[in-house]
Amino acid sequence: MSHLLIAYAPNDLDALLKVHETLRQASIATWYMPQANGVSPTSPANLAAIHDAFGMVVLVSAASMKSKTVKIQLQQAIDRGLTLFPLRVDHARLSGLFRSALADKLTDAVHDDGALERLVAAARQRFEKRCPVIAVMNLKGGVGKTTVSAQVFGAWQSALGGRTLLVDLDPQYNLTQTFFNMNTADAFSAQDRSVISLFERSRLHAKDLESPAEDWTSIRVDPFPAADRESMCHGLLTPNGPAGRLDLISGQFEISKYAFAQNPLALAAVGANFRRMIDHYRSHYDLIVFDTNPNATFLTRCALEAADRVVVPMHPDVYSLRGVRLLNQVIHDHVDAAARPDISVLFNAVSRSEQSDFEADARNGAFDPQAGFSLSRALMSHALPRSAHLNVKNPDPDSPPWQQLLIHRGRGGGLRAIRDTLTGVAQELKTLIEA
Ligand SMILES: Nc1ncnc2c1ncn2[C@@H]1O[C@H](COP(=O)(O)OP(=O)(O)OP(=O)(O)O)[C@@H](O)[C@H]1O
Ligand SMILES: [Mg+2]
Repeated sequence: MSHLLIAYAPNDLDALLKVHETLRQASIATWYMPQANGVSPTSPANLAAIHDAFGMVVLVSAASMKSKTVKIQLQQAIDRGLTLFPLRVDHARLSGLFRSALADKLTDAVHDDGALERLVAAARQRFEKRCPVIAVMNLKGGVGKTTVSAQVFGAWQSALGGRTLLVDLDPQYNLTQTFFNMNTADAFSAQDRSVISLFERSRLHAKDLESPAEDWTSIRVDPFPAADRESMCHGLLTPNGPAGRLDLISGQFEISKYAFAQNPLALAAVGANFRRMIDHYRSHYDLIVFDTNPNATFLTRCALEAADRVVVPMHPDVYSLRGVRLLNQVIHDHVDAAARPDISVLFNAVSRSEQSDFEADARNGAFDPQAGFSLSRALMSHALPRSAHLNVKNPDPDSPPWQQLLIHRGRGGGLRAIRDTLTGVAQELKTLIEA
């Protein structure tokens, strides 16, 4: 994913080619609508290009302000909350939608020779600011996906810094229940302040709408701008608690509705909405983490297509190994090569006395044929031990959510060793991502 779309009028072909060539030299992928007869801004090709864009360059000129096509494309970009990079290419005065949407962002290429270079620098900054997205996934249940999502990435935020967003993509919404009691979690979804608002237009976008969670028989495919971070993302670090930003987009059962949907086009549209929303929130965070469901569904595909890396917790046993094998197969069969995330496998709940043989064999490559890929190379060197500290505990309604994180607990009873291991896993992942 992600290119920069260029909206232009046919009269501005010279400017278009110059902008395109400069962006190409800066290694920023672009897309613009061909001029062939019959191509319209509502054509599937243009809509697909807008779905996957991270921003839009608008060539502003007398011709483009008169162009119906450019106006429609500009409105589409505004509706989707794309970052706009308007470039003035003649002396025409801004009017209408162009004035209201673009005046304060305009780069003037008529009077300023360095304008194009500045626009490219701004576009590149927006592109590179994309924070990494990690999906915690295994097609086997109960292997520690939710535990890793909370505890490893809670440790990451605390020990390594950066603004972190956890997204509960599992309809069981256990990650949300790690931090909030059921009443609070359900109150978030009753207001659509929850994961469904990443897929469909909801009451967060228009107060008088019925919630998409209440209608299981239809899916809203129309695009929408991202809701404010403050209304969508729940802070886990309360005032007077630990410093920094660790937020959660809370989960809900109703996203199971997509598993029953019959219309592949509708699913493609909500999948594109999801990717666009994640892309939007990337500019507010330095790390985004998905906790995911154990079975292969539409949600699995959404997570895989948006993720840069998949972290696969596995128990040292053959059932977990099968889950890893299936996951690798799903990634190869259903995700385009260009969008395919890297895999890191993390042994979880390792009991040193019982399972050391399995772990040692896996590290020596003995299970690579069964895994269907080089599991030994994908294995992280750190492993999480089986420990009562990592066993889930119901949140105390009187305690702030961050107190569920081991990294913020005391040091007695072996906690220090667990904290060091959690931080070690986080550090290893960070190094892998930055390599
Ligand atoms: N290292 C560990 N030591 C002890 N208990 C653990 C450990 N890791 C996970 N658990 C416990 O195992 C159970 C399953 O873990 P968890 O819910 O994280 O798995 P999951 O993969 O998210 O499950 P699901 O597939 O249902 O989403 C929980 O009770 C959790 O507290
Ligand atoms: Mg889980």
